Amino acid sequence: MFYLCGPEAMYAHCLNELENLGVPRRRIRTEVFGPPKDVTAQPGWPAGLKADARFAVAVKGRGALQARAGETLMAALERAGIVLPALCRSGECSLCRTRLLAGRVFQPSGVKLRKSDRQLGYIHPCLAYPLEDLEIQC
Ligand code: FES
Repeated sequence: MFYLCGPEAMYAHCLNELENLGVPRRRIRTEVFGPPKDVTAQPGWPAGLKADARFAVAVKGRGALQARAGETLMAALERAGIVLPALCRSGECSLCRTRLLAGRVFQPSGVKLRKSDRQLGYIHPCLAYPLEDLEIQC
């Protein structure tokens, strides 16, 4: 029995190699982490919003950047040189917890936000997608 646990790229590679070795699919168990390949196909994604729509993100005290609707906020931040603490990159560990000061984001159903985080406006940028211009504090 094989257990695969990790990011999607590793999962896809290992699954392919195990199949090449003749391991039957029923003997492979998986737990996949990371953002979905196509967030626009997720339940709850706003109808009509294209993945390539661009929004302005103001980062309090750190400048501003552009982010696409179809990429995680964390990816846009990292491209702009703003690196947050991160572990799971799947919305589960809370390490990247960031305050959303203005705007709305889409967070797929797998994101585990504490009740107090929801009440105080925190998000997990590793699995949050901008739906409009944002202002955040991190
Ligand atoms: S890195 Fe774990 S919740 Fe974002």
